[in-house]
This record gives sequence, C-alpha cells and structure tokens, in this order.
Amino acid sequence: MELLLISSLLLCSFLFLIFFFRYSRFSPRRLRLPPGNLGLPFVGESLQIISAYKTENPEPFIDERVNRYGSLFTTHVFGEPTVFSTDPDANRFILQNEGKLFESSYPSSISNLLGKHSLLLMKGNLHKKLHSLTMSFANSSIIRDNLLSDIDRLVRLNLDSWSDDRVFLQDEAKKITFELTVKQLMSFDPGEWSENLRKEYLLLIEGFFSVPLPFFFTTYGRAIKARKKVAEALRSVVRERRKDDEECSSSSRKKKDMLEALLEEECGLSDEEIIDFMLALLVAGYETTSTIMTLAVKFLTETPLALAQLKEEHEKITTKKHYSGALQWNDYKSLPFTQCVINETLRVANIISGVFRRTTSDVTVKGFTIPKGWKVFASFRAVHLHQDHYKEARTFNPWRWQSNNSASSSSSSIGNSNLFTPFGGGPRLCPGYELSRVEISVFLHHLVTRFS
Ligand code: HEM
Ligand SMILES: *[C@@H]1O[C@H](CO)[C@@H](O)[C@H](O)[C@H]1NC(C)=O
Ligand SMILES: *[C@@H]1O[C@H](CO)[C@@H](O)[C@H](O)[C@H]1NC(C)=O
Ligand SMILES: *[C@@H]1O[C@H](CO)[C@@H](O)[C@H](O)[C@H]1NC(C)=O
Repeated sequence: MELLLISSLLLCSFLFLIFFFRYSRFSPRRLRLPPGNLGLPFVGESLQIISAYKTENPEPFIDERVNRYGSLFTTHVFGEPTVFSTDPDANRFILQNEGKLFESSYPSSISNLLGKHSLLLMKGNLHKKLHSLTMSFANSSIIRDNLLSDIDRLVRLNLDSWSDDRVFLQDEAKKITFELTVKQLMSFDPGEWSENLRKEYLLLIEGFFSVPLPFFFTTYGRAIKARKKVAEALRSVVRERRKDDEECSSSSRKKKDMLEALLEEECGLSDEEIIDFMLALLVAGYETTSTIMTLAVKFLTETPLALAQLKEEHEKITTKKHYSGALQWNDYKSLPFTQCVINETLRVANIISGVFRRTTSDVTVKGFTIPKGWKVFASFRAVHLHQDHYKEARTFNPWRWQSNNSASSSSSSIGNSNLFTPFGGGPRLCPGYELSRVEISVFLHHLVTRFS
C-alpha cells in the first residue's frame, strides 16, 4: 500500500516536471532557450498561425510575440516546439549554415505534397548537384540567350487572349507562370494538356494553405488526390521521353530542356526522383511569381505616381527605333524603376514568409541555445515589415529602393543584404531568383504599354 502511494507520488511529480519543462513558459536563464509560450500540447499554435495566414493581416501572430518576448521566441506550430527568428543576423546565420548546423525540414503536410525527392527536401551531395543543375537552367546567360524570347512570346500570347470586359488578373498571371515553367521543363507549348495539368495544380496548392486532415472531403485530401494525378501525368511524359531517347540516340535531335538534363544526369536518377523534382519545380515557380505579378499591379493601381513613372520608363523603350514589339535583354537591363517596384512588392507581399529548418546539433544563436533536433523558422516577412529596418515598413514605397533617396528609407537598410532575403540565401538560395524577376518585368512591360 505504502509502496503504491510512494510510486504514484513519484509518478505524479515526474509528470509534473515533464509538464513544467515542456509546456510552461520557459525561463530563459535556466534553459537558455528563446522565451515563449508553447501553447496547447499537440495542436499548439498551428491553428493560430494558419488562421493568421488566411486573414488580410497575418502580422498579429508575430507582432504580438515579438513585443512580448523579443526577436527570437519559442512557440508550438505544426505539432512541434519551434524557435521563430525575426532577427536578420540570426536569419543569415541559419541560411548560411544550411547543411552544417541546420537542415531543411518542412512539416510533413508540406513534404507529402511535394514528394521526398523534391529539391526543397533533398539533402547532401545530390542536393548540391541538382541545385546547381537548376541554377544552370535559370542563370542570366541562359535567360538572355534562350528563355527571354519564349517568356516574351508567351506573355504576349496571353495578353492577346484577354477579352474586353473582365479579366481576372491573378488567374492570367498564374496561367503565364505555369506555361513558362512547363515550357522550360519539357518544351511543351501551352495547350489543353498544360491547362488540364494546371487545374490539378490549383487543387494541389490549396493543400499547402489548409489544415492537413487527410480525408477525401477536405481541402488537404483533395490536394493529395491532385498530387497523384499530376505525378501520373508527369510519369507518362518521362517514360515517353526515355523511349524517344532510346530510339534516336543522335544527340543533335534531342531536346535541350531540363527534363533532358535530368535524364542524362550521370548519377542515374529514377523516374520517381525526376517526377518529384519536376512536380516541385512547378510548385516553386508558380504561385510565388504569379502572386508578385498580381500584387505589383494592385499596389501600382493604388499608387498612381508610381504607375505613371513605370509607364514612362517602359514607353521610353517602345518609342526606340529598334523596338520590335518584344522586350530585349538590354531593355530589361535598363529598367531601374521596374526593379524598385519588384523589390518593394517582394518586400511587402512575398507569400514565402520564411523557411523551416531543423538543428543538427545544439546551436547557440544570440546567446540562446537551441537543442539538437529542434524546428526553427527563419521569418523573412517579420524582418521585411519591421519599422526598425524599413521606415514606414508597411507602406508600399518603391522609391525607397532608389540609391539617391534618403528620405524614405532608414539609412542602413537598403543595400544591406542581410535584411532583404525574399529568395532565401546560402546553399538553398532560390534558383529562380533572376528568372522570376525577368518574368515579372516582361509582364509589367506589356501590361503598362498596352493597357491603361
Ligand atoms: C517571386 C518568386 C519566387 C520567390 C519569392 C521564391 C522564393 C524562394 C525561397 C525563399 C526559397 C528558399 C527555400 C528554403 O531555403 O528552404 C526558394 C527555393 C526554391 N525556389 Fe524559389 N522563389 C520564387 C520563384 C521561383 C521560380 C520561378 C523557380 C523556378 C525555377 C523557383 C524554384 C525554386 C526551387 C527549385 C527552390 C528549392 C531550392 C533548394 O532547396 O535548393 N523559385 N524559393
Ligand atoms: C549558366 O549556365 C550555363 C550552363 O547551362 C553555363 O555554361 C554558364 O557559364 C552559366 N553562366 C553563368 C553566368 O553562370
Ligand atoms: C533588389 O533586391 C536585390 C536583392 O534581392 C538587390 O540585389 C538589388 O540591388 C535590389 N534592386 C534595387 C533597385 O535596389
Ligand atoms: C534620383 O531620384 C529621382 C526621383 O526621386 C530620379 O528622377 C532620378 O533619376 C534619381 N537619380 C539617380 C542618379 O538615381
């Protein structure tokens, strides 16, 4: 009897201790973890963060915690305790130490949709290889020599199809970016095939922004189903291309697109690896670039002075003698104000709000220790929208990017590459950073010179 009492007392105090350490507020001095609140066990703060991202103003989630705990804090999202960083130096440290102290680690709801062989989730040497392969298909000389003419042609083709009455800009922007990536990946011109695939992508992408309950009637369940269909469609493309390659081995007749490079990769990628890679690349370049296109137009409409200045910059090109109706590389390179508009849109409205990592050992950052195996979220959005880094940080002001403008930017910020990281950095720097800028510039060019 006594033994039972003692052991249950012991059990109780043991449970209490666990509860105290895991779910109470951390005392930073004892554990040296960033301070914070872990929320309810299991559900944690995921629901709060998902609901925050679905509202007009997603900032309160971070604002409230930064005010209470400081720029590094601990919270509980996607089923795990997670350290949130809203500090530019800590974010840089996290990005640069990818593969050493940190590794990419996305919630399983996201990795199930992307597939484990997608570049975003790949690790080690294979990641290095395929990251540089992706870069070599989207670097500036490739864009200049091969991609720009397709980009220009496909953008004009899309604008030609606009009817006089109503155009849903976001939908058209999505069509354009999807068609461009399909072309770049496997040389298909837009048509019924790409449009059907895109319909499945719409469902797939909704899954990223939903609560991950895997039932057939949920948004997430539909996304998983759509993923299967997309993978099926890509699988038949891969098989067909392998067959073609076997039949005609003369390299001169082979297509020079990304799929070909993946098939010829000397480490011998399997069909499944190629499919995951392509599927994820179509996700990566799609929603991101099209949202920036749409929101740039929204902000410009709300800022008539900026729109007028942008129009003037682009009309200078169309009135040049050599202008053929298409935007040339040299023209693209002489659009300083357009680049300011793109940067400012990326700063205030990037849908990639930050990146997820996991520590591979105990890591000390800013005087705190994050234990091995913990989730970390480096929030770019919190830095981009903080008053300490950008004056009137939540206002759209493209002029702040002009080098001679001291009035609208705090002196240190513009040109400080730690602060502005819409494309991430380090070994996982977005391989599409130049490509998406070119796509957005070409889109804006034809939009403002054709429509009022
Ligand atoms: C406005 C447009 C875009 C934004 C804001 C953006 C942003 C980002 C960010 C922040 C990352 C880093 C993720 C991480 O570190 O975990 C990333 C990775 C990536 N992006 Fe983009 N991206 C854009 C467009 C594109 C385009 C057009 C492509 C197509 C080529 C692309 C392909 C990728 C790929 C494949 C990765 C994974 C890289 C890796 O993990 O090694 N992105 N992107
Ligand atoms: C771009 O990639 C190609 C290979 O696709 C390579 O030959 C070229 O040197 C690269 N250019 C730059 C500027 O890195
Ligand atoms: C826009 O941001 C990029 C970093 O992504 C930077 O290299 C570039 O100089 C910026 N452009 C302007 C006009 O400030
Ligand atoms: C300085 O800014 C003004 C607009 O504020 C612009 O017209 C001018 O071209 C800029 N000059 C330089 C050198 O960037």
